[in-house]
Amino acid sequence: MDDKTQAALVERFFDLQQRRTTDLAESTFRVSAAHYTSEAELDRERATLFRGLPLVAALSVDLREPGDYVSFDADGIPLILIRGEDGNVRALVNACRHRGARVFPVGRGHHGGRNVTCPFHAWTYDVYGRLLGQPLARDGFSDCDNDLLGMRSLPVEERHGLVFVTPLRADDETVRAQTEDVLGGIGAELDHFRLGDWFHVESRSLEVPLNWKFIMDTFLESYHIFALHKGSIGPWYFSSPGLFDSFGPSSRVCGVRASISQLADTPKEQWSILPHATVLHILPPNTVLVHQQDHIELWKVFPGSTPAQARIDASLYAPEEPKTEKAWNYWRKNLDLAINITNDEDFPQARESQHSLASGALVSLVYGRNEPGLVHFHRTIIELMDRFGSAEPDRARTGVVS
Ligand code: FES
Ligand SMILES: [Fe+2]
Repeated sequence: MDDKTQAALVERFFDLQQRRTTDLAESTFRVSAAHYTSEAELDRERATLFRGLPLVAALSVDLREPGDYVSFDADGIPLILIRGEDGNVRALVNACRHRGARVFPVGRGHHGGRNVTCPFHAWTYDVYGRLLGQPLARDGFSDCDNDLLGMRSLPVEERHGLVFVTPLRADDETVRAQTEDVLGGIGAELDHFRLGDWFHVESRSLEVPLNWKFIMDTFLESYHIFALHKGSIGPWYFSSPGLFDSFGPSSRVCGVRASISQLADTPKEQWSILPHATVLHILPPNTVLVHQQDHIELWKVFPGSTPAQARIDASLYAPEEPKTEKAWNYWRKNLDLAINITNDEDFPQARESQHSLASGALVSLVYGRNEPGLVHFHRTIIELMDRFGSAEPDRARTGVVS
């Protein structure tokens, strides 16, 4: 985020505060209960958003050097990303082409260019997924074309320090265009955060009994802070005004800290928002990049096996490699804090909403004009589903129910 944008955000905050208002959506927006509870809806989301569109799989810094890899599941699909000697990131489905065993263990590290061996029957692959050997197979696969038995490779786009992978659609041209489309012009702003230069401290995964969109909702408005978080982070933030900007399907939400009031007595030329806000970049469908004062968090959210289950992968990045145990602990505690606040305060609250919707007693929810991040995100999800989904749009989802 450049200096001009930062100063403009501070100015806008003070202006909104003076006028006793906040950034507003054009209109309220309703979604039906099915948006959060329907099995059919989840199937469509999975097919359309989580299989067919580019997803943020990692930050460039996760794969800093040739040979660096990360191996994880994205909506249940085992993936491995590895940076090749040519500097390009490759993505493979981390499943053996014989009988599907996971080839690389889950985790991250540096692969010294050695071949990898499947633990089940010891088929050997190179780091690009090419099949090299089938020990003891004798003539067992003599009628197969071994060139077709390499690990499946998936399209990758690396932009602005983000690594996008498209799990199923393989046409490079389409993937490139869709990645541009998702970014919606937010890339120049992300470049200022130099996402290739941070240091990965730790990643944690969490299974949560909530629809995946409720997890995203946690990040999309600051309106609830004064009430829900009054005993924890409430005093540190303004619940209103909140700052919101959209970039095509992507968006930026700023949760402004109480400390911004100090700027009122300083010259405008010195104004910058970053020391006085938590700045969130939301890249649909499932990624939130959080810029705290001194670190970055990457949150990836995936649906679980039912509409009321989700999986979260949360990672924290520090400006540089911690040199002491004390420094490591400082960053780990920051991740503890981020996870504990959401897990202890936001998610139990969202479970009440999930319960109410699942009961059938409520047919819809309404997002306020003062929650423009929510309005934009849910409109975007519905538009993406209507645009890329195979089934007919379900009008009951699109905000016309009462
Ligand atoms: S499943 Fe990998 S070698 Fe058999
Ligand atoms: Fe919250």
